[in-house]
Amino acid sequence: MKVQRTIPPAAAPLYWRDLFCGFGGIFSGEKSVQNFEAEIKEYFGVQYVFAVSSGKAALALILRALKTLSSKNEVLIPAYTCFSVPSAIVKAGLKVKLCDIDPATLDFDYKMLEKRVNENTLCVVPNHLFGIPSDLDRIQSLCRVRGIYVVEDAAQAMGGVYKGNKLGTIGDVGFFSFGRGKNITCGSGGVILTHSQQIASAIEKEYSGLERPTFLENMKEFVSLVMMKIFIYPALFWFPNGLPFLKLGETFFYTDFPMKRFSGIKSGWMRKWKERLERSKQDRAENGAYFIKSLRAGIPRGNDIPYLRLPIVIETVEKRNRIYSLSRERGLGLSVMYPTAVNEIEEIKADFKGEAFPSAKEIAEKLLTVPVHALVSDRDKRAITELVNSHC
Ligand SMILES: Cc1ncc(COP(=O)(O)O)c(C=O)c1O
Repeated sequence: MKVQRTIPPAAAPLYWRDLFCGFGGIFSGEKSVQNFEAEIKEYFGVQYVFAVSSGKAALALILRALKTLSSKNEVLIPAYTCFSVPSAIVKAGLKVKLCDIDPATLDFDYKMLEKRVNENTLCVVPNHLFGIPSDLDRIQSLCRVRGIYVVEDAAQAMGGVYKGNKLGTIGDVGFFSFGRGKNITCGSGGVILTHSQQIASAIEKEYSGLERPTFLENMKEFVSLVMMKIFIYPALFWFPNGLPFLKLGETFFYTDFPMKRFSGIKSGWMRKWKERLERSKQDRAENGAYFIKSLRAGIPRGNDIPYLRLPIVIETVEKRNRIYSLSRERGLGLSVMYPTAVNEIEEIKADFKGEAFPSAKEIAEKLLTVPVHALVSDRDKRAITELVNSHC
């Protein structure tokens, strides 16, 4: 464990006053959750909103609901994404189908997507990875004529826009995550949004069977949020970052995650969410713009996106690994994100025998993310630029 300034790869703004607001949420309980859902409805201009325990739970709930509306059972996702996405599909009892990505945009390879949709495709799930909008017009025109649902996974893209419309509200149904390291956080949480009355009533049936978190679970979450609040600062982040059992930044495939409702205490923690989202977007857009100008690495897509983290693609695996290990030594907060393409995840790889997703594999090997949150100082920015450019 090296005691030095260490930048976390991602960090959402969270203030002590937000944590104290949680106690108000405990007492007003259900009412506080309803107020939070009403604010989301109003801000995003949607009719139906369901707040749940995580982004994974949101996706699994959506898929279980869609399953009741159709006899199709395949869910088409990008072959490079967060392992939580296939985890939620398997939890919902559906089949994961993969489409390769375009390494220049990290979005679907659209030529392949056209070939991958078929009569069993229940839905396509664009991922807006790192906050970069997927080409929703293209996806919708492909899906609409075939009766395929579009489920927007906007876990990493809350507050982003596509052609003037808010991400998460454009597909048939969408969701955000409030996990650690997302745009805004309350430790863990997620929210589902839809304009469709048919989908909302199918979700409602599933949602009505969900329990609320227990008091003990809420208290555990409170303690871990306080810890996060204290140790997220670069002056202290070296400590949790150096504890291997915390497995910070690692991604796992697992299906035994809880599916619960959102709690009153979490609604309390989210009380000033609009302010926090605006602030976080502004910081990330500014820092992203700085790195886009200063870094000599390949950067998928363009300028004024409030990136969750800025993805960069390094020429060779060796160089990528070298930059990453130097960043770890110097505490600069670069991360390698997902270790493999989805088809190589140990627990499900047998389902993809004989299939190849070369661009997803290449990106898993060559991608790095650059931290763009508010805790990155001007000095950090110069040090990151110097490190990346001297190896590119
Ligand atoms: C693209 C994507 N989808 C879904 C999820 C799941 O969200 P959560 O961590 O809140 O379960 C994540 C989380 O990192 C994600 O990045």
